[in-house]
Amino acid sequence: MSDVERDRPRRTFAVISHPDAGKSTLTEALALHAQVLSEAGAVHGKAGRRSTVSDWMQMERDRGISIASAALQFGYRDHVVNLVDTPGHADFSEDTYRVLTAVDAAVMLIDAAKGLEPQTLKLFQVCRHRGIPVLTVINKWDRPGREPLGLLDQIETEIGLRPTPLTWPVGISGDFRGVLDRSSGDMVQYTRTAGGATRAPEERLTPDQAGERHGTDWDTALEEHELLAADGADHDQDAFLAGRTTPVLFASALLNFGVSHLLDTLLRIAPAPAPPTDVDGRTRALEDDFSAVVFKVQSGMDAAHRDRLAYARVQTGTFRRGMVVQHATTGKPFTTKYAQAVLGRERHVVDTAQPGDIVGLVNATALTVGDTIHTGRPVRYPGIDRFAPEHFAVLRARETGRYKQFRRGIAQLDEEGVVQVLRSDLRGDQAPVLAAVGLMQFEVVQQRLASEFNCQTTLEPLPFTLARRVDPADAPTIDRAARVEVLQRTDGTLLALFPDRWRLETVSRNHPDITLHELPAGGG
Ligand code: G4P
Repeated sequence: MSDVERDRPRRTFAVISHPDAGKSTLTEALALHAQVLSEAGAVHGKAGRRSTVSDWMQMERDRGISIASAALQFGYRDHVVNLVDTPGHADFSEDTYRVLTAVDAAVMLIDAAKGLEPQTLKLFQVCRHRGIPVLTVINKWDRPGREPLGLLDQIETEIGLRPTPLTWPVGISGDFRGVLDRSSGDMVQYTRTAGGATRAPEERLTPDQAGERHGTDWDTALEEHELLAADGADHDQDAFLAGRTTPVLFASALLNFGVSHLLDTLLRIAPAPAPPTDVDGRTRALEDDFSAVVFKVQSGMDAAHRDRLAYARVQTGTFRRGMVVQHATTGKPFTTKYAQAVLGRERHVVDTAQPGDIVGLVNATALTVGDTIHTGRPVRYPGIDRFAPEHFAVLRARETGRYKQFRRGIAQLDEEGVVQVLRSDLRGDQAPVLAAVGLMQFEVVQQRLASEFNCQTTLEPLPFTLARRVDPADAPTIDRAARVEVLQRTDGTLLALFPDRWRLETVSRNHPDITLHELPAGGG
């Protein structure tokens, strides 16, 4: 990155959506509008699409999904934009949630025909939990879909955010002519290009011109816009930042309609990286010494040698290639001499990075998710929550002779945060219990143990669906309750597992003096 880019203001965001809503298409459309600076495996490798280092697992290739996630960085106008990728698969893992700890805003992408879908809702809950402001893009307006007012109603009733459209479509879904820009009152008229492969030409029309060219379609848009204004559904920056409203844009990612409007909107209203708060509640100024938080660790990208990549979001200061940083957990210096690149298809090297940017540290074996690294004055940021697991299973090595590999593999996957590992004296170390937010995490564990540690495993699902944290003094009492088990997570936390909500409620009622602490909700 050049010095000029270094000083440009940042916007760091993620797109949250249900599979097939158009996230990859939108990512490519954004890249088309912008000057791509570096890419870290952001776009997943569907057939015929760009394939990236994120396609590192056979499973991923088979399914055409992206399990790895990283960031795409591009320049737009006078800004540098970081688009942090969320994995696109239907199942859930903590990975998806953790990505959202590295962004300052989210774009909720909705298919105009389908409206809000389950995964969008889950991801939205995480944004709410983290206080991340959410912008909404209603995609695929070029295809027949729902009524725009009906879609707004659904957003308001199902997620409780007040939609405040910034644009309003001219032409029903399936006949997308352009949008009414609600801030200026003009129309932005779109023209199709073959296959949407190039930037779609846009023309700004005055209301009179729009009326002449688009007749009743314009009149309808105008009426609805006035209706919205009368209803108080206009953008309010404070309410947006406070998570009470969501600005809405209409688009067709495939035809490149509305994409530049989205970029301009991000620059205008999405928050810039803010000074972070450390574990003691102190704020560290953005221009202070370098500091960053690891939000994702990934191994095995290169089957030939076991490498390990830690993705960190820069919180303060400037990251410079080759600098020696301190690992806050151990106090040990950590050299970034060979560990400076944000890996991409073309293995771009990042010379410097600023608050809001994502750096991929190669062979960062000491780093785990939630760790702080810094230079200068020591600092430690709050770790990243482990989310409430909903699936539990006992894992065993198929051949007892491979127990050593089994143990090493589990330890590594645990450190990477691929899955939570629970143990008890009763069950012993040979049969740890895996706990996950989504079932696919189990598959990933088994696959990686097989491919990286040459260890085949068996999985025995356990009949639990809920976990609560218990205090050590209360653990024996809870553990004695029927159909309940208490296990210890690697970080020391004691988790009580329950088969269902009813059992949990009964146990709570029977022990009114014991608190069963809720864990951070992943899925809402
Ligand atoms: P995802 O990453 O969210 O899973 O979605 P992706 O971009 O892969 O898009 C899913 C499908 O929806 C793709 O079609 C894509 O072309 C289509 N799509 C995305 N945005 C739009 C849009 O604005 N308008 C229309 N009409 N279609 C859109 P596909 O047939 O599954 O794949 P492909 O063969 O086109 O790649």
